Amino acid sequence: MSSQFLLSDPIRRDRRPLPSGPKGLPLLGVALEHPKQEFWKAYARWGKEYDNNSGLISFHILGRRIIVINSRQMAETLLDNRGAIYSDRQTLPNDVRSYNDRLRDYRRLMHQDFNSRESTKYWQLQEHEAIVLLKSLLDTPENIFEHIRRFSGAVILKIAYGYEVKSEHDRLMALTKEGMRVASLAAAPGRWLVDSFPILRYIPRWFPGAGFKRKAERWGELLYSQSLIPHNFVKKEIAAGKASSSFSSKYLCPENGESVSAELEDLVLWTSGALFTGGSDTTVSVVQTFVLVMALNPDIQRLAQAEIDRVIGHDRLPKMTDCEDLPYVGAIIKETLRWGTVSPLGLPRSTAREDEVMGYKIPKGCVVFANIWAMLHDESVYPDPEKFNPSRFMGEKQLQQPDPRELAFGRGRRACPGQFIAEASVFIQVASLLATFDIRKGFDDDDIQSTKPHIIGFTTAIVSFMKPFKCKLVPRRKEIRTLIEDALAEII
Ligand code: HEM
Repeated sequence: MSSQFLLSDPIRRDRRPLPSGPKGLPLLGVALEHPKQEFWKAYARWGKEYDNNSGLISFHILGRRIIVINSRQMAETLLDNRGAIYSDRQTLPNDVRSYNDRLRDYRRLMHQDFNSRESTKYWQLQEHEAIVLLKSLLDTPENIFEHIRRFSGAVILKIAYGYEVKSEHDRLMALTKEGMRVASLAAAPGRWLVDSFPILRYIPRWFPGAGFKRKAERWGELLYSQSLIPHNFVKKEIAAGKASSSFSSKYLCPENGESVSAELEDLVLWTSGALFTGGSDTTVSVVQTFVLVMALNPDIQRLAQAEIDRVIGHDRLPKMTDCEDLPYVGAIIKETLRWGTVSPLGLPRSTAREDEVMGYKIPKGCVVFANIWAMLHDESVYPDPEKFNPSRFMGEKQLQQPDPRELAFGRGRRACPGQFIAEASVFIQVASLLATFDIRKGFDDDDIQSTKPHIIGFTTAIVSFMKPFKCKLVPRRKEIRTLIEDALAEII
């Protein structure tokens, strides 16, 4: 058994304590009391019980040490200021492809292409896809969530691979869904059984109980093939001389005609794969949550529609350049990101070496979660945090509550590289929906109050979604159809 496991609790060797937290049972740690659902809420609660105002808690699951950062201040101290220690990613158990080495290089590539200035070059694509979305909603409003999913898939596949999605049933779109499911499963706490008990690595695959190992291998294969299929599509298009411009083609077919090293090709494969996974579900989740909160808050919806009508009028659809002139719509987006925290624990990090903060020891190689949900629901910062209230972000700048975007996309070196793409995708969908449709409830209030409280629940995953709910979309005016169809005719 590895020394990592035997010495898993460094308190035995060293007087410095670990950050406090629930002790759990010997060997098992908190495995039995760890909630299965929305555990970020339990981490916030444990923070109140144990953390001595440090903003940090720690516990172990099956010998695997986990540190949770519950406060913004601690996130700044560790993730922003000590990036060299807190920027590694937790990898899949048994991961055969070393991930962290590539990630350093891929950050550089992504930053070049997706910084705030460069991201504006995708605005036209996002505006076009918003028109396609509206037309689909006119025709089959009952399929609203498939249409929203198509928007995100179409945008990211075009940006990363130059691939055009033709329908909701597109084969590459189906890959994104499965890929996210797998990535979420693989990254959930408590999944590192194989890491915690390295001896399990040597158990043959057919041995009863070795299911976890088989699963880990399948996850790895699936994530890899998810990147490989669209990557091979680009290579084929390049070979046939018909590749359209994309992140992948830019590197795989350099303008100067130089040949591409195997190392660079591998990097591009992984980077585009990460964009594909990171960019697929996240914006879908925000827009779905937006739809529910609009259905539940017709007064807020009316205020936003009035702002849009005032600024844009009735003769055209919203454009990205309207963003600055629609502060209330912007406040609704901020509140949606806060209230319905998309990625409540971010992506797990891992410590590159031992560290110390406020007298606490942080061991090397432990798993670090930034509890973004806890930070965005801290009642000392966001009073009445469970209430959906965009007015938090209106009025004089210095009186507004802190912008949730400073946390929702993570912090430090590994913060979301797709933030500007994401913000544009969310804005254009939200503004387009508000301009053209009334979003109404498709369920009774009684359903929320008692019989079906799950209507406003969230799923537990790396990217958290509203649980399924029904809604109705009604065009706001009879001219809306012509407006949308004319706009569509212009782009095809
Ligand atoms: C509203 C939508 C989105 C939210 C809330 C979001 C949030 C996040 C968060 C919290 C992380 C982890 C950051 C950390 O460890 O501190 C992350 C990572 C990442 N996101 Fe996003 N994201 C969104 C959209 C996107 C989009 C559209 C893309 C692609 C264009 C993208 C690509 C990525 C990638 C590649 C990573 C991994 C970065 C790394 O490991 O270095 N995300 N995102």
